[in-house]
Amino acid sequence: MTSDKPSAGAYEHAANLDSEAIGIERPGLTPAAPGAQPHNESFGDVLARNLARRAFLQGVAAAVPVLIAGSALPVPAVAGGNDQGNQGNQGNQGNQGNNGNNGNSDGLSFQPIAPSTTDDVVVPRDYRYDVVVRWGDPMFEDAPGFNPAAQTAAAQRTQFGFNCDFVGYFPLERDERALLVVNHEYTTGTDMFVGYVPGAVKEETDVEIAAHGGSVVEIARVGEGWKYVASSRYNRRITGETTMLITGPAAGHPLMKTSADPIGKRVRGTFNNCSGGKTPWGTWLTCEENFNQYFANNSLVADASIKAVHARYGVTNGATGRKWENFYPRFDASKEPNEPFRFGWVIEINPYDPDFVPRKRTALGRCKHEAATTALAKSGQVAVYMGDDEQFDYIYKFVSKDRYRPGNGHDNSDLLDEGTLYVAKFDDSGEGTWIPLTIDNPLLSAKFSSQAEILIKTRLAADAVGATAMDRPEDVQPNPVNGKVYLTMTNNSARTSVVADAGSAKANPRVPNLNGHIIELTEQRGDHGATTFSWEIFLLCGNPAINLLTKSSQLTPGIPSGATFFAGYAQVDKLGKIASPDNIAFDSRGNLWIATDGQPSSADIGRPNDAIHAVATEGRDRGYLRQFLSGPKDCEICGPEFSDDGRTLFCAIQHPGEGGGVPNSRSNWPDRHGYALPSVVAVRHNNKRRIGE
Ligand code: FEO
Ligand code: CA
Ligand code: CA
Repeated sequence: MTSDKPSAGAYEHAANLDSEAIGIERPGLTPAAPGAQPHNESFGDVLARNLARRAFLQGVAAAVPVLIAGSALPVPAVAGGNDQGNQGNQGNQGNQGNNGNNGNSDGLSFQPIAPSTTDDVVVPRDYRYDVVVRWGDPMFEDAPGFNPAAQTAAAQRTQFGFNCDFVGYFPLERDERALLVVNHEYTTGTDMFVGYVPGAVKEETDVEIAAHGGSVVEIARVGEGWKYVASSRYNRRITGETTMLITGPAAGHPLMKTSADPIGKRVRGTFNNCSGGKTPWGTWLTCEENFNQYFANNSLVADASIKAVHARYGVTNGATGRKWENFYPRFDASKEPNEPFRFGWVIEINPYDPDFVPRKRTALGRCKHEAATTALAKSGQVAVYMGDDEQFDYIYKFVSKDRYRPGNGHDNSDLLDEGTLYVAKFDDSGEGTWIPLTIDNPLLSAKFSSQAEILIKTRLAADAVGATAMDRPEDVQPNPVNGKVYLTMTNNSARTSVVADAGSAKANPRVPNLNGHIIELTEQRGDHGATTFSWEIFLLCGNPAINLLTKSSQLTPGIPSGATFFAGYAQVDKLGKIASPDNIAFDSRGNLWIATDGQPSSADIGRPNDAIHAVATEGRDRGYLRQFLSGPKDCEICGPEFSDDGRTLFCAIQHPGEGGGVPNSRSNWPDRHGYALPSVVAVRHNNKRRIGE
């Protein structure tokens, strides 16, 4: 969600930990026959093939045999999709009139679209989109059909959740069947219930809790498109009530213990799952972002030191916006002061095993995690890149102690329990350092008593070592083709003066930064395990027609927000407009695809709907940015993700029509019935081309 916006509400949920049975909800799941192998290729083979194809590890992971639990699968019934007014357009709306660009060095030949305010998903000429799965779609055999006017918690636990964000594609079979994992970041009650009053109706609170978390949903090709499989044995809902383990150095620390969990190793649920990532061994990383908004009454917390940590993370002082604390005391920090410490983590889930108990991996630190993306160091150690989405917060990298072992499949997961967490310091010289947040650092041993405490209070540790304060770090992701790491800073209206703290003056050069920017980071020797790097500004987003800079030397601290830079690309008449970059993805050529969250707030670019843009990272067309997709009204676009054959681009349409309220939402997308439905869509070319080519 956009932190600059008024909070949708601090929605609190404190599911009655004492009396309710804690279970993993998998209604309708049919157990697989032990040992059955339904297809010619094992899932591990398919995954290995796809991972190798993606050159995930710069040549290290040529073969990745992965052990995947469960494999029997009946021929699925296919449901969902687009039978009512959501077929998607055939492209060609608002095309800019640029030529086909068949001679581009980046291999992209799609005809760019113009910025749009249309209440629909708009794609280029010769492309189309389909809705794959939307809020309320039943995911299990016994799940009821969606009735938004009479939604119940029991129904929501069996249906696709609200406000989808991260989308991950996990292959099952020959690019014909796959699993999508999808985060459900947050809820806005006014867009879900007629006459919503926060904290007034317990059933509505329970629906909201059940609409959070994530979904694993099987998809299958039907014709040239994808539809979700309504009763796949893989389908799973993760919610605010799902039992999770706490693993790594902070597990069992006194600050992780609550009245419901006196050992500090088991937690109920997850909230505000924003973006995420995938591991080389085929698991899903889902990130807890603005968890602070679910916890009330920090001002009443008795322990001053706990209160101070919660304050650094923004835990609410009074009532939360959603007021779940009215029903569930765990969301009241004055009653359960440690409960907020159990959120703000990166969680690992095996999407191929519906019985897998999600694990909060504390070695990766605690912050408002946007995403967690992986790459292998030259040594074989696993690097995880992460951003903390807050104005003036930091970029992190975790490097595992041990090496990834091809052939060990999901046994590699424990790599995420032991390693070194670093925070980035950018120098004005264009160099930078990954500073270890370890207890043997005297700056930290003076303030913290253990590694576990450092991890629970990650932000405070990073403050102590002089990390560089960034302009709201969102996605941070290595490009598997050129090996460089791309860091999106979505915007920072609060950067009102040039501040030379730890080199940030050049790394965040605009004052204010209303349109966001992207930094390109090159690890020393191209090694993701390195502790030093070089960096340069790749994009200063905005409207290139206002003030296009074309030389890096022009990117001096204090330049105004209207100034733009597209990696030196100078053909201003060809460049698209972009603001508030958020989630990113790379195609097989290494071109960068950027989803936005906040373009309607950018006066510089004319306040169009949020979008997906593509930009070359190498070659003659480096910096040539073109718009590929526009979303419906008042949505953000999340989770751009390519199918492994490159012929489908999935993305999440999050919060269409947000804040308009129901039953008369500001958006009618996709079903045109007064409720706007957060959904995942699949975009494809009419002639089966790879996306963009
Ligand atoms: Fe949930 Fe940082 O976007
Ligand atoms: Ca965002
Ligand atoms: Ca985001």
